[in-house]
Amino acid sequence: MANDSTRRIGLSLGADICWPRCYEDIMAALDPTVVVDGERIGFDLDRVRIEPFGLADPTPYDLVIDRLTHWFSNTREWIKKAVILDDVYVFNNPWSVQSMEKQTTYCAMMRLGLNIPDTIMIPKKEYEDTADLEPTLERYADLFDLEAVGASLGYPMFMKPYDGGGWRGVSKIDDADALKEAYDSSGQFLMHLQKGVIPYDNFVRCVGIGPQTRVIEYDPGAPLHERYTTTYNHLSDDHMAEVRAITLTINTFFGWDFNSCESLGQNGRWYPIDFANPCPDSQVTSLHRHFPWLVLSKIRWSLFCAATKRPFRRNLDWEPFFEIAATEASYPEKIKAYGELAEAHFDTERFEEFCDKQLAHLEEVAHEYFATDRCKDAVREKVAALYPEHEIEEFTERFWAAIGVWRDEESLGHG
Ligand SMILES: Nc1ncnc2c1ncn2[C@@H]1O[C@H](COP(=O)(O)OP(=O)(O)O)[C@@H](O)[C@H]1O
Ligand SMILES: [Mg+2]
Repeated sequence: MANDSTRRIGLSLGADICWPRCYEDIMAALDPTVVVDGERIGFDLDRVRIEPFGLADPTPYDLVIDRLTHWFSNTREWIKKAVILDDVYVFNNPWSVQSMEKQTTYCAMMRLGLNIPDTIMIPKKEYEDTADLEPTLERYADLFDLEAVGASLGYPMFMKPYDGGGWRGVSKIDDADALKEAYDSSGQFLMHLQKGVIPYDNFVRCVGIGPQTRVIEYDPGAPLHERYTTTYNHLSDDHMAEVRAITLTINTFFGWDFNSCESLGQNGRWYPIDFANPCPDSQVTSLHRHFPWLVLSKIRWSLFCAATKRPFRRNLDWEPFFEIAATEASYPEKIKAYGELAEAHFDTERFEEFCDKQLAHLEEVAHEYFATDRCKDAVREKVAALYPEHEIEEFTERFWAAIGVWRDEESLGHG
């Protein structure tokens, strides 16, 4: 039977290698047709090119999965045009990606009553020399007592850039001398000092893709390929629900369909510390056994959004969250209420029904695919881009074995 219409999905990519290959291969094997309100819908998929475009040119895509906006302005501006003029659905909201740094996200979640560790922003140590710099600093930059600021916050603390990412410029500071040294070498970074949540009982990263979440225990001291541990969805029901609600609240609040939220658990409380990651690591070389989950989650969410013509929310809507925040409700009650707003925003029930009814064979296709030479080749290509020649074979086998564990323990309802 012929399809009534076709939705076009664009992958907007930079250095990514493994997940797009797997996404494309599985889509080709699945060749999905879905039926929404009586309409038979097929899908076309390709990679977004970087080329001149007229602002009035139509956009060929219904949905774009974007991995460039946070640093690549050509594509970011193309996407913004496509959202405004052509109703394209993109994850993530490009205006929000561009403007919401760690600092803003801390402030917003503080207002919602989340347990953000005490944080102080300090003026830069050094500035880029610009025309108005000298009069500005001379007139208005007060000398401040760094030691007193440090004492008011207490040790240990972390110094980190207000717009951080990838551990750039992060240091742990245990006393006043170390604080002075760290500040003196902070250069032109605009820095936060943040109270350390130490020791913690749990360090989790919760990856969210639409309403799909996965809570993974994280080990910041491990080498990069083992920082995501193999332990996941391991917390008690209450804690799982809280971490999920926190993650989906953040993602709804900022218009991020795809994000990862780092939280530290201490004495039964959750402290979110790093959750402005709207282009999270998606590589098999970091995610190992969690990688197939990520690929499948991206497939499910993109098909759902494209097929149902999910309206893209161009403007953020913070008021319903602030209204809950202003009530006398307790912390657990508020988290629950925010979580309900987020589940409604992500249309969780409809999404799950869509997956059950329309994508029932996806798991089978994926189970087969994640054992093929083509998939192993995608893993090898990613490893080869990252590792020295003499380690390529060893690490390819290692990540391949991790995917095997996913097949054995998780796919097709195992485990
Ligand atoms: N308040 C904190 N308490 C304990 N550890 C922290 C705190 N802030 C940061 N860290 C540690 O430093 C690492 C990097 O900080 P993070 O805020 O995640 O920066 P980035 O955005 O660069 O990932 C974290 O993964 C964690 O190990
Ligand atoms: Mg981090």
